[in-house]
Amino acid sequence: MNPNFQGTSVAETDLLQLLARHGAEPQALVQILRELQELHGWLPRDVLKRVADALGLTLAQVEGAAGFYRFLHMAPVGTYRVLFSDNVTDRMLGSVALMDDLCRRLGVAPGRLGEDGLVSVDRTSCTGLCDQGPALLVNHHHVVTRLDATRVAQLAGLIRAHVPVSQWPAEWFEVRDNIRRADVLMGEPSAPGAALAAALARGADEMLAEIKRSNLRGRGGAGFATGLKWELCRRSPGVGRVVVCNADEGEPGTFKDRVLLSRRADAVFEGMTLAAHIVGARRGLLYLRGEYRYLLEPLLAVLQRRRDTRLLGPSILGREGFDFDIAIHVGAGAYVCGEESSLIESLEGKRGTPRIRPPFPAEHGYRGLPTIVNNVETFCAVGHIALQGGAWWAGIGTPQSSGTKVHSVSGDCERPGVYEYPFGTRIGRILEDCGARDTQAVQVGGPSGVCLSAFEFGRRIAFEDVPTAGAFMVFDRSRDMFEVARGFAHFFAHESCGFCTPCRVGTALVVKRMDKLAAGHGSRHDIDVLFELDKLMHTATHCGLGATACNPLRDTILKFRPAYERHLKSLYFEPGFDLDAELSVARRMTGRHDAGAYLENPP
Ligand SMILES: Cc1cc2nc3c(=O)[nH]c(=O)nc-3n(C[C@H](O)[C@H](O)[C@H](O)COP(=O)(O)O)c2cc1C
Ligand code: SF4
Repeated sequence: MNPNFQGTSVAETDLLQLLARHGAEPQALVQILRELQELHGWLPRDVLKRVADALGLTLAQVEGAAGFYRFLHMAPVGTYRVLFSDNVTDRMLGSVALMDDLCRRLGVAPGRLGEDGLVSVDRTSCTGLCDQGPALLVNHHHVVTRLDATRVAQLAGLIRAHVPVSQWPAEWFEVRDNIRRADVLMGEPSAPGAALAAALARGADEMLAEIKRSNLRGRGGAGFATGLKWELCRRSPGVGRVVVCNADEGEPGTFKDRVLLSRRADAVFEGMTLAAHIVGARRGLLYLRGEYRYLLEPLLAVLQRRRDTRLLGPSILGREGFDFDIAIHVGAGAYVCGEESSLIESLEGKRGTPRIRPPFPAEHGYRGLPTIVNNVETFCAVGHIALQGGAWWAGIGTPQSSGTKVHSVSGDCERPGVYEYPFGTRIGRILEDCGARDTQAVQVGGPSGVCLSAFEFGRRIAFEDVPTAGAFMVFDRSRDMFEVARGFAHFFAHESCGFCTPCRVGTALVVKRMDKLAAGHGSRHDIDVLFELDKLMHTATHCGLGATACNPLRDTILKFRPAYERHLKSLYFEPGFDLDAELSVARRMTGRHDAGAYLENPP
């Protein structure tokens, strides 16, 4: 394996076939590169040149795109490329020790290709399997879940014996859905086509009115009103409109879209088709994160079934002129591509750099056409609204946050998995249901969301209180919240696309300060600097990644100050100073957990 296929006839045939399949469109560049790499392991320069020539691009454009994505390789890689999922929840389940063990058994250093070219072992950002970690990816294609020492030892043996991944034990690749609480979206599915028929019966105008009546807000994080977005797109001038489903799900700790795509793919595609009916689109694209590559074939099968039953393709459900079809674009490892304008750049075959907005995608999106981009869960919801009406949906949840929300629950709890509740549900209720005990903190909405401490567990999930894109990571009192925040700081620095200086430099400076504190060399001044960086990045960065990168630091400094104080160089650590005793006095006196603030300014 690991062939360098320069000039071979196999490569030529593959290349020609691939180009033909993608219509030799430059917009398909990322897909072509990804598929070439799936066949041949890596992307030699002369092959990139041939791709560039065939697509009418420059080599610099092709190399620029290939170099942006973590899962595309322009240098030889191992026959086996093992990537450990590196979310905090994986680490809590022992992933660091397991990775060290695998490296030792295989005789390779992390991130380095072994001398014989057989294997490389490295880390990657969260793979969306936090409910069944520690997890890893092999050759970007296969996921191995529920790792333990035995599995790692066997895995090392199989690699050393050159056993193809397709012959590894099938149960290793099992991805469980872990649906723990179902409501509307996870409950009984409606028959494929039923919601579409209801929407056609209502007509596009009335269906849009129902969506607006439902007060449905996007589930991808920002909570923008779905009906309004669709209306903007519908009204935007332009020939042709596009419906895009954002299945990038890169926010660490989030995996509910994975389960919706596995269990409710029909509902997702039906929602996209319904949206096409409303906005007048003929083209649909689903952007599937690279880490979910294993879902591609099942999803393609659902699409084909829908074509066969006239739920996609020309004259849908026999309606003359209602032509719509959906293609799947697989990402290649870049968190920022979840941001809708980066996602569109990526769909167009380019680096996933966020665009300047306005114009917004609803006016000027994919290839300049009016485009709606919505989250998987948002599309799932619209079919139910078509069937039951907007008023019914608006009656669930709270006035400002209608309907239900699906949560990805992981971390220190007995029953990690997917939980669906009406909006307005208390944090404490979710903790009770998932079997969390002695909980110190919950990170809601992923690292870019909000970190809640125990005195906030009465707060509610809702856009007007605790908004969320779906991650719910639980930390009990044994966890060091400083280390949790430090892990998130590394995540953002790693994922910054580097386009704007405040984020590129800011995230690196944050990591530097956090590492300095972790090494015991920090002072209060470093904490002050972190606050200043937070303020700066909130206002000066180009996209939401940089703007939210300091959220976990700000929250943990405010609410878990003692976790930071423990790492300070001097101050309290003079001989005889007992930090724990001081903190417990402070907690008793303040009745709160941000006792560090009391220590800073004792009465
Ligand atoms: C850095 C970043 C990453 C994002 N990742 C996702 C994602 O993985 N999935 C998603 O639906 N939205 C994501 N978003 C939000 C999208 O930009 C966009 O608001 C969303 O897809 C719109 O869909 P909705 O209206 O249905 O929520 C991300 C935003 C930012 C700034
Ligand atoms: S904020 Fe960060 S991720 Fe966003 S454009 Fe700037 S560098 Fe890229």
